[in-house]
Parts: sequence; C-alpha cells; structure tokens
Amino acid sequence: MGKVYAAFRSIGAYVPQKVLTNADFEKMVDTSDEWIVKRTGIKERHIADKDEATSDMAAKAAKIAIERAGLDIEDIDLVVLATVTPDYFNMPSTACLVSEKLGIKNVQAFDISAACSGFVYALSVAKAFIESGMKQNVLVIGAEKFSSIVDYTDRTTCVLFGDGAGAAVIGATKNKEEGFLDIHASADGTYWDFLITPSPGSVNPASCEAIEQGLQYVKMKGNETFKLAVKTLTKDVKEILKKNNLEAGDIPHFVPHQANYRIIKAVGDSLGMRDDQVVLTVHKYGNTSAASIPMAINDIYEEGRLKSGEMMLLDTFGGGLTWASALIPFAPAK
Ligand code: UT7
Repeated sequence: MGKVYAAFRSIGAYVPQKVLTNADFEKMVDTSDEWIVKRTGIKERHIADKDEATSDMAAKAAKIAIERAGLDIEDIDLVVLATVTPDYFNMPSTACLVSEKLGIKNVQAFDISAACSGFVYALSVAKAFIESGMKQNVLVIGAEKFSSIVDYTDRTTCVLFGDGAGAAVIGATKNKEEGFLDIHASADGTYWDFLITPSPGSVNPASCEAIEQGLQYVKMKGNETFKLAVKTLTKDVKEILKKNNLEAGDIPHFVPHQANYRIIKAVGDSLGMRDDQVVLTVHKYGNTSAASIPMAINDIYEEGRLKSGEMMLLDTFGGGLTWASALIPFAPAK
C-alpha cells in the first residue's frame, strides 16, 4: 500500500440571518462606528437566533460540505468539531449532536478546544488520521455561537464577535499533489489568562456568585493579545513558507483568521502580499473564532475565486494561547 495524503475536498458554511451593525452597538454601549471600523475593520456581524445552537449551525454547514464533496452521509468516518461555545458544557460533545442531526451513525466524533485556532487544529487531526490510514473521509467543522458568551454591556469585547459555522470534508488520496502540504500548530499556556471564560469549569463551577460577577462571559486582554498575534503570526507564516520553499507571491489565497483587520494587514504586509491575495471577511462577520477560516474559504469558493489546485495559506491565533498556520491546496474530487 502506497502513502496516503489528506486532501481538502470541499467547503460549506452557514451564516445566521440576524445582523448587528455598528450603529446597533452605538445604542447599546459607549462606542462609535468610527472607533470600531478604525480599530478592527468590523462593520457588522451575524448573530444566531435564541433557539439556534452551535450544533444547528454546524450541521447546516456540514451538510453543504458533504454534498459538495459528492459524498453520502455513510461515507463520513470521523467528525471533528472545533468550538469554544459548545451546546453543552461539558457533555455531550457538539460533534455528537451534529452527527445525530445529520444521521451519521456509529462513527467516532469529538470536539476540539483551541479557540480561534480550532479549525486549523482540527485539520491537523484529520491529516494525522488520514495519513495513518485510520480514516478515509473526515468531516471537520468550526462552529461558534459566540453571542452566548459575550457580555453585551462590555464595549471592549461585545463589538468584536459574531456567530456562524464552516465545514470541510478532508478525504484520503494517493495523489501527493492534492495533499496538505504542511501544518504548524502550536500553543503557549503562559498566556492562558489573555482570553478566558472563567466559569463554568472546575476552577469556578456554576454558581449564583459566579454569574453575579459575570464570570460566564469572555474576557480578553485585547491589546496584549493583539501585539502577540502580530509578532507570532508574522514569524509563523514566514517559517512555513520558507520550510516549503515557497514565496508569498506563489500563494493565490492567504486566508487569515478574521479577528482584526489591523492584524491581517500587518501580517500580509510583512509577507509582501497584494490585496487580491488576502481574503477578508472581518468587515461582515466580525470574529467568529473557530468558524472564521472555513467561513472565509467558503466565501471565496462561492464567489468562484477558489479553483481546483490553488494553494491556500491559513493562519490563526487565539485563546490558550494557540496558533497555527497551514499550506493546503484546494482539491475537490474530480
Ligand atoms: O481572535 C482571537 C484573538 N483575538 C485577537 O486577536 C484580538 C486582538 N485585539 C484586538 O483586536 C484589539 O486589541 C482590540 C480591537 C480589542 C482593541 O484595540 P486596541 O487598539 O488594542 O485598543 P485598546 O484596548 O488599547 O483600547 C484603546 C481605548 C481604550 O480607552 P483609553 O483607556 O485609551 O481611554 C479603551 O477603553 O479604546 C477604548 N475602547 C473603546 N472605545 C470605543 C475599547 N473598546 C472600545 C469600543 N468603543 N468598543
């Protein structure tokens, strides 16, 4: 048996209908459209319905990805879902709920917690399972209902985040040209308190006191995170390109995590990327954490900009702290 590679076969996404604009936030907290656009690039973000859970959005994105891969539900032999806003803390996993919603039966399914880096972490897991020969068609999902952990009275976080889901099918191939070229995924727990939801968890189990203190909401050391993100990602993307003997100019699609336009611009500029190479969705979706990269890939796919064989450079940074970058060709099944 020859070597097997992991191929990025398809992409799908789901964006909830409701939109919160910067003008809406001007009515909720002490902020302005000018501040939000200048500091983040965000103009609007989509928010899930009250009765719409992370697994509902994930299942919708996944269904599209499976159809676009030309596969049946029965072909999926592993479900890996990245989220920090699961339907339930801490069980069942959202991956199990998505499997149930899609009718995927008797198949290994689990969640990954790596905050905004979750989707690329999940891709690295899919790659390992496929290259080892253990699985053939892995459903990889990034889905977040970030609005469920946002304090809409805290102007330093509430304007940043949105909801949504993206999914991809990663399939086994013997054609090396189709395979993932490389993934770097890394973490540094030194900065564990830069991005945190303090409760519920074993440190602060659910309690009236915890809720009164607002410990269930996301807290972020924004400026410190910003500086580390720029520094780390600039180094990481340069390293992955160099290691694979590629120049920035060889990459048709740079798909960065969509947290802040200024981070994307700083990293893109450090690589000498042209505007047409850089995929931008932060203005319309805000930061959707683990969903941000697959939602961005889906956008260029649906716009007809992502062609078979074209290389994508992904990069991401988030709570943990975690970060990752990847070089992956788009390889729809022929
Ligand atoms: O996705 C996971 C990783 N996350 C990130 O990569 C996010 C990284 N961080 C960021 O994107 C930026 O740090 C923020 C957008 C969160 C903040 O931008 P900043 O340029 O770092 O601003 P800052 O936190 O230094 O705050 C500057 C000022 C402060 O006021 P003072 O202390 O200078 O008077 C804030 O209180 O801006 C104030 N401010 C706001 N003003 C109006 C903070 N949020 C707002 C707001 N509207 N929404």
